[in-house]
Amino acid sequence: MAHRIGIIGGDGIGPEVVAEALKVVDATGVSYTAVPYDLGGTRYLATGEVLPDSVLEELRGLDAILLGAVGTPDVPPGVLERGLLLRIRFELDLFVNLRPFGAPASALNDGVEMIVIRENTEGTYAGEGGFLRKGTPLEIATQGSVNTRFGVERCVRFAATLAQSRPRKHLTLVHKTNVLTFAGDLWQRTFNEVMADYPDLSTGYDHIDAACIHFVQQPERYDVIVTDNLFGDILTDLGGAIAGGIGRAASGNLNPARTGPSLFEPVHGSAPDIVGTGKADPRAAIMSAAMMLEFLGEADAAARVQKAVSGSDDISGTTSEIGTQIAERV
Ligand code: IPM
Ligand code: MN
Repeated sequence: MAHRIGIIGGDGIGPEVVAEALKVVDATGVSYTAVPYDLGGTRYLATGEVLPDSVLEELRGLDAILLGAVGTPDVPPGVLERGLLLRIRFELDLFVNLRPFGAPASALNDGVEMIVIRENTEGTYAGEGGFLRKGTPLEIATQGSVNTRFGVERCVRFAATLAQSRPRKHLTLVHKTNVLTFAGDLWQRTFNEVMADYPDLSTGYDHIDAACIHFVQQPERYDVIVTDNLFGDILTDLGGAIAGGIGRAASGNLNPARTGPSLFEPVHGSAPDIVGTGKADPRAAIMSAAMMLEFLGEADAAARVQKAVSGSDDISGTTSEIGTQIAERV
């Protein structure tokens, strides 16, 4: 049966890169029905709607969602990020954000081959906090970090099972346990307890700041990393930078229980400064589509796309020229 895939181009370069990703999916011959959604800054500015409840209900019935990017300079920060992207992550319970990085040895390091598992529904992203006496000299703003045993454990278990399936079988926890002594303690204890069920794994721990150094100088120490939402956000931009640029970094927001659709998107943002210039690299979106195909059980098509992208260093040109050439190779 044809997969029903929701398409959210979003803002900025989002629609441009998603169009190229679909070009490449078309080239695989996988049969699917695209269900387009007009969501993002343009719709918000025109109608005031960010994500109507009826649309959210429709999304629940899809097999997967492919998203470009959200965020535009004309809309105040947070409206689209919180109201659209994070709301989808939370409402569809996409608790794993899986971000793979791979690159050959370079002047910087001996090569990158790792996967970051970012917890995707809790931490500082949960939206706990508020203002007191807003706009006055006595203003107070708090922004808490929510960490549940349940949420941490399911994420760590996912990462451990993934590490178990890989040749190196190595899992690193990244946090800041020396300063975040409550949240960090919960993460560390949960990690230690879950590891008792995975005796074949070798494990490591790095503080987030040290991990940033290792990402640049010694990324080969990592196989699978598990970390909290905000650390994972920052670390995966760095991951993109050390592995071919943020234009290559793909991600899957996963519902591992498959009780609803998972959402696939490039790690990069909407890059309003280069909209319409043809400068956007569509490879991150194309790789995200490959992850989607794999998750949908189309392993062969996914492998063909991955191969075409990883061998595409010789391809240059505009967004659409790169997409067309990768599609031809698929
Ligand atoms: C990402 C993005 C999002 C995040 C923004 C757009 C809300 O930066 O997917 O990494 O912070 O998670
Ligand atoms: Mn980010």
